[in-house]
Amino acid sequence: MTRITISEMTTSDIPEVTAIENESFSTPWSAASFFSEINNPASICRVALAGDSLIGYICASCILDEGHILNLAVRTDYRRKGTGKMLALSILKELYARGCKRIFLEVRASNTAAIRLYESIGFRTLGLRRGYYFFPKEDAVVMGLQLN
Ligand SMILES: CC(C)(COP(=O)(O)OP(=O)(O)OC[C@H]1O[C@@H](n2cnc3c(N)ncnc32)[C@H](O)[C@@H]1OP(=O)(O)O)[C@@H](O)C(=O)NCCC(=O)NCCS
Repeated sequence: MTRITISEMTTSDIPEVTAIENESFSTPWSAASFFSEINNPASICRVALAGDSLIGYICASCILDEGHILNLAVRTDYRRKGTGKMLALSILKELYARGCKRIFLEVRASNTAAIRLYESIGFRTLGLRRGYYFFPKEDAVVMGLQLN
C-alpha cells in the first residue's frame, strides 16, 4: 500500500481539496474559504497524500488556549484506512504545540463515522446545538477534548 504522508496545505492544493469537499458535504466550503484559512495565522490546514495524490485534509484554529477543529474529510475511495485519524492526530499535536489545552468541534448528529473517529482519539460529547446545520436541518453534537 502507498505510504500516507501529512503536509501543510498550500494554495496549489485548493482545487483537489474543494473536489473532496464537494463530494463530502451538502454545504461545502468554497475555494475562498480554504484560501482564507491557509492565510489565517490562527489556523492550521494540512493535507494527506498517498504518493502524489491528495486524499484528505483537515483545518483547525487555535485562539489563546482553545482549539477548534473546523473541517476534516477524506476522499471517498480512501476512507476507512486510517487517514482521517492520522490527520486528526497530526493537528492535535500541532494545537498542543501552540498551547491549546481544550479542543472543541461540532459534527452532524447523524455523522456516525466522524463521531466514532473523534471518540477513538479521546473526544467526548459535551452537548447538542439544536438546529445548528442546514441542508438538511440537523442538530450538532458538540465534542470536546482536554489535552494534557
Ligand atoms: C469522517 C471521515 C473523515 C473519516 O475518515 P476515515 O479516513 O475514513 O477514518 P479512519 O479510517 O481514520 O477511521 C478511524 C476510526 O473512525 C471510526 N470510523 C471511521 N469511519 C467509520 C464508519 N463509516 N463507521 C463507523 N466508524 C467509523 C472507526 O472507529 C475507525 O477505526 P477502525 O477503522 O479501526 O474501526 C470520513 O468518513 C469523511 O471524510 N466523511 C465525510 C466528511 C465528514 O463527515 N467529515 C467530518 C466532519 S465533522
